[in-house]
Amino acid sequence: MDRSTPVGIIGAGTMGMGIAQVAATAGHPTFLYDTRQEAVEKAMASLARTLSTLVDKGKLPGAEAEAILGRIRPAALMKEMSGCGLVIEAVVEDIAVKRKLFQDIEAKVGPEAVLATNTSSLSVTEIGAACTRPERVIGLHFFNPAPLLPLVEVIPGLATDPGHRDACVALMSAWGKSPVVCKDTPGFIVNRVARPFYGESLRILEEGGADIPTIDRAMKEVGGFRMGPFELMDLIGNDVNYMVTRTVWESFFYDPRYRPSFIQQRLVQARWLGRKSGRGHYRYDANGAIDPGSPQGLAGVPHSPKPPEVIVRRVLVMLINEAIDAVHLGIATRDDIDLAMAKGVNYPKGLLKWADELGLPACLAELERLQAEYGEDRYRPSPLLRRMVREGLTFY
Ligand code: NAI
Repeated sequence: MDRSTPVGIIGAGTMGMGIAQVAATAGHPTFLYDTRQEAVEKAMASLARTLSTLVDKGKLPGAEAEAILGRIRPAALMKEMSGCGLVIEAVVEDIAVKRKLFQDIEAKVGPEAVLATNTSSLSVTEIGAACTRPERVIGLHFFNPAPLLPLVEVIPGLATDPGHRDACVALMSAWGKSPVVCKDTPGFIVNRVARPFYGESLRILEEGGADIPTIDRAMKEVGGFRMGPFELMDLIGNDVNYMVTRTVWESFFYDPRYRPSFIQQRLVQARWLGRKSGRGHYRYDANGAIDPGSPQGLAGVPHSPKPPEVIVRRVLVMLINEAIDAVHLGIATRDDIDLAMAKGVNYPKGLLKWADELGLPACLAELERLQAEYGEDRYRPSPLLRRMVREGLTFY
């Protein structure tokens, strides 16, 4: 695959549109298809606006913007993609829809074409198994907004040809992205490792350890995270964040480490979805600013307040434990896990590097303290963390 390889994008929503921009910017003839023709038209208009803003800001020469837009062809029918060497699917997150779609695409493209899914939570293996040639089906998981966030998780399914995996890694690098390879397991890297950022913060809130603004402030000012967990849940949408949490928890056969929170479930039931509905963990005014008098749902007033350092340490060691367990289970390499969290969700540093800085014995001690206090499997330290402490090892 090189820049002359035509790329087909199926689904012209948020992700499809962004990926089309990335592929066309990298020089590929790009086809954009959606079952709803108006979605393609809307995406083309939106892409034209985005590119012209880049020109106005002096970030892109006008001729280049025109060339990029000229490379994106709206496709009225899927069969217009028959010459594509790579097709990336970004349609609704529904396994039945995706399996049917992959069967349809397979019948329309040549035998050498690679078929990729942008799924965030479904099994690449299960999608591939719908095809007669599952060896050419792979996950290419971009992050939103795709033109801005460099991370792409490259996920071979059980049957995927390693040659296609390597070709996809090379192609993503050629597109200026930061590809990481990970096993086809629930949440891949980022959506697995990041769960405690939300889940443990919700737990602290639920237990009355701190109120929402305090936890957000602690994670930003002490932890160095760009956004607090509650601000971020409101930005992502509590419905989306809750659905990802539920899916990961169910996919791990109800491992308590990933258990969702009643607080978030109630917000979703109330349709307090976050910024997009004007109210979530916080209330937003017409300009999108947080209303300082925001009510705090089920949380109420903290009754056993914890200092910000304690809040941050608890969330951070849970994140670190996830990252270490992902190494332990061979989900991805040390470097790819650290790169993924820095490039996909803007963490201030890689979690394994952070673990070294805090000291692995201190991380283990905190997890053991939590496990003893709660008596819950949720806080079990990764066997790799135990072994490394025993042997006096560090990650770097
Ligand atoms: P979206 O709802 O913005 O767009 C989906 C588009 O697919 C719609 O325009 C819809 O008309 C079209 N569509 C539905 N069924 C179709 C079919 N059978 N054939 C062709 N087009 C069809 O969704 P979004 O957010 O772009 O997500 C797409 C995929 O990307 C999902 O699998 C999602 O999990 C994944 N994803 C989403 C991220 C996000 O932050 N929104 C981030 C990373 C992955």
